Amino acid sequence: MSRWIFLFAATLLLAGNFAPNESCKSCHPLIWEEYQGSMHAKATIFKDPIHKGVWEHHPARKKGAYKCAHCHTPAADNLKELVAPNGIGPDPKNQSQQDAVACAYCHRIQAIHKGDPINRNIISPKPRVYFGSRQEHIPSPFHGIDTSNPNFLKGNVCMGCHSHKRNKFGLNVCSTDPNGEIENANCVSCHMPQVPGSVSTLKERPTHAFHGFPGAHFHQEMLQDYLEIEFLPHLKGFEVALNSKLPHAFLLHPARVAFVDVTITRGDRQIFHDRKKLVRIIGANGRPTPPWLAREVVKDTMLQPNEKRIFKYDIPLEKGDRVVVRLGYRLVKPPLAKKLGIQDPMATKPIIFKEATFTYR
Ligand code: HEC
Ligand code: HEC
Ligand code: HEC
Ligand code: HEC
Ligand code: HEC
Repeated sequence: MSRWIFLFAATLLLAGNFAPNESCKSCHPLIWEEYQGSMHAKATIFKDPIHKGVWEHHPARKKGAYKCAHCHTPAADNLKELVAPNGIGPDPKNQSQQDAVACAYCHRIQAIHKGDPINRNIISPKPRVYFGSRQEHIPSPFHGIDTSNPNFLKGNVCMGCHSHKRNKFGLNVCSTDPNGEIENANCVSCHMPQVPGSVSTLKERPTHAFHGFPGAHFHQEMLQDYLEIEFLPHLKGFEVALNSKLPHAFLLHPARVAFVDVTITRGDRQIFHDRKKLVRIIGANGRPTPPWLAREVVKDTMLQPNEKRIFKYDIPLEKGDRVVVRLGYRLVKPPLAKKLGIQDPMATKPIIFKEATFTYR
């Protein structure tokens, strides 16, 4: 009996022990470099001013219970203490915390335990065997390779952290998959496309899976093609349609605000401008609140999965008129950024996701 307890404890100990990101650099320099520029490498309060801003106002901070670590610094060597209400908070000198959503952590996700308020990743007990999806591979002198994990083969290893997050009132604060519909969704095909350059320095290959994780912060241009902007003129005006091919809402985090700008230029004069906002606001009693106090969805005009949203304009066009449609967003609604004391300009600057120009003939 005691031997089993010992074995179990040893497994837990090893499971918390992740090879540092730095140790992957020598053989996977391209992937390492891309990853450094991704939100997975910057998911900590040290590198993400938006995450820091929300954490600093979160009630759990007073108790020093950095529960966010489950997803934002899951490779921390003191994860258990970090999430407990004991006053121990994030420590910038701890390299395992700086490693954020670490290489070895992701590549050791053996299974995903579905649950509430959040899912849990089950980490494999073998610290030096990494799951992958490239069946035909050469051996690695540094680690074992296991290509039999269905989560990796289905491009679905993301759902332990990205599926949903409920607050204490059971409200789904942020969700890629609110209704549990994306069973076999391939997150990887859109967010980790194959790009030129070798997988490792040990064998020349034409492409590798991109580890810069295009999303709301970076590399949006790689995702543009999954959303079409259509222009449908008729006698009395025109329609603009946003045609989403996404399995999830256009933006997911409730801090965001998207906008659709439509302008008409006649000759060299702008004769019309309109802005529609797309938001998902959570709150209570019909008013917005911070996520931890929210009991309901107050308003949701965000572009939904696979939705085709049509905007109508009763403005008769003349030959040669140019209609410009811009779909963009801000990572944080400006009033919210102010409330949270987030000063970094990147939080509120408008990001143009896609733009299209149509000339009426
Ligand atoms: C279940 C996993 C999970 C937990 C626990 C979690 N987060 Fe997150 N968080 C995510 C994921 C996934 C994203 C990315 C979502 C997106 O971009 O839509 C995210 C994004 C964010 C963002 C947006 C960051 C940005 O740069 O725009 C903020 C702010 C945030 N989380 C705050 C927190 C805080 C504060 C806590 C702890 C009190 C926390 N999160 C706990 C998974 C989690
Ligand atoms: C000494 C060199 C070396 C180091 C260091 C190294 N790897 Fe590898 N790794 C390889 C080689 C070689 C391959 C196989 C590449 C191929 O077949 O083209 C590989 C393949 C992989 C694969 C892909 C498995 C598959 O078939 O899909 C993963 C995942 C991986 N490594 C993760 C890591 C992580 C995480 C680290 C750091 C903790 C790391 N590697 C450090 C050499 C290395
Ligand atoms: C251990 C938890 C975890 C896992 C597993 C995970 N992510 Fe994330 N991911 C996060 C967190 C946390 C953030 C938000 C970081 C922040 O903004 O501070 C995030 C952010 C993102 C973003 C937003 C990037 C941006 O620019 O805004 C994308 C896209 C993403 N993840 C895709 C994926 C994909 C695809 C997978 C599966 C291959 C995956 N993630 C697996 C935790 C995780
Ligand atoms: C958010 C989770 C996540 C993180 C973090 C992550 N990877 Fe990966 N990685 C994946 C997934 C998923 C695949 C499989 C992609 C596919 O099926 O095309 C993959 C594929 C790979 C491959 C094989 C590439 C190919 O094209 O065959 C290597 C090598 C690798 N990762 C190494 C690393 C290294 C090194 C780091 C850190 C610098 C890292 N990964 C960070 C999820 C992750
Ligand atoms: C058909 C392509 C496609 C698929 C499949 C897909 N996404 Fe996305 N994803 C997008 C696009 C497009 C965006 C919006 C880009 C942006 O935020 O600039 C996006 C945005 C995101 C964001 C950032 C949202 C925010 O508010 O910060 C996260 C996180 C994300 N996706 C995770 C996932 C996960 C996890 C899966 C798998 C369940 C997935 N995506 C599947 C195309 C896709």
